[in-house]
Amino acid sequence: MGTDKRPIGIFDSGIGGLTVLKEIEKRLPCESLIYFGDTARVPYGNKSRQTVIRFTTENILFLLKKRVKLIVIACNTSSSLALKYVRKIFKIPILGVIKPAVEKAIKVSKGKRIGVIGTKSTIASRAYEEELKRKDRNSLIFSRPCPLLVPFIEEGLIRSLLLEDLVKFYLKDLKGKIDTLILGCTHYPLIKNVIASYLKGVCIIDSAKEVAINTKRILEENGLLANSRNVSHKEFYVTDDPQNFFKLAKLFLKKNIENPKLVNV
Ligand code: DGL
Repeated sequence: MGTDKRPIGIFDSGIGGLTVLKEIEKRLPCESLIYFGDTARVPYGNKSRQTVIRFTTENILFLLKKRVKLIVIACNTSSSLALKYVRKIFKIPILGVIKPAVEKAIKVSKGKRIGVIGTKSTIASRAYEEELKRKDRNSLIFSRPCPLLVPFIEEGLIRSLLLEDLVKFYLKDLKGKIDTLILGCTHYPLIKNVIASYLKGVCIIDSAKEVAINTKRILEENGLLANSRNVSHKEFYVTDDPQNFFKLAKLFLKKNIENPKLVNV
């Protein structure tokens, strides 16, 4: 058991990364967590690689000032477009969401017919596709950008008929072709039930869960775990509208969070 009390830094373009925080909190209750949501510049999902790299670098610099011991890039778009770059320039362990989800998908998929859904930039980057092919070059991959799902979920329309129609619209081409689907966006775990009921029998991979399992493993391997007697705390920072973040966080976590603080990066 380690004794490193420093917090874990988690960031996302906005609110969606709370799905990752929730899973990390569940598996690592003694760890302190600092969450940064770049709410002033969300969405990242339709931005260019250069812009996402710049935002990602700035977010990491912010978390480093908070003396974090490990950084989790909860955002699929940042992980797809910027992870390789920031890993080269920062020494701190940085975990993205792609590899953990891909490893799980390859493990559970029987027919190696794997679907990936995400933002426009994530799908266009082909980051999931490349990682899947690297793990199993015979796997068949079906990718689909679903740009309207994020705004729908942020509007709280997670149990509406409109959402069911949208899911059908985006996933009809994948139905019958895949046995496994990677939810390649922070927001999608919130509508996992709607997706699962449309794609009956398909194994749905929630990257948030896999990232949390990997975070634990990396802390263990590097002797970075906090002591079990550690009194953990959580801090939330956003770049715009802390009240709205607080309100949406309740939808994501089903509980109130500590008051988010407004910051500039
Ligand atoms: N966090 C983003 C992702 O996982 C979704 C929201 C956005 O487009 O910024 O790709």
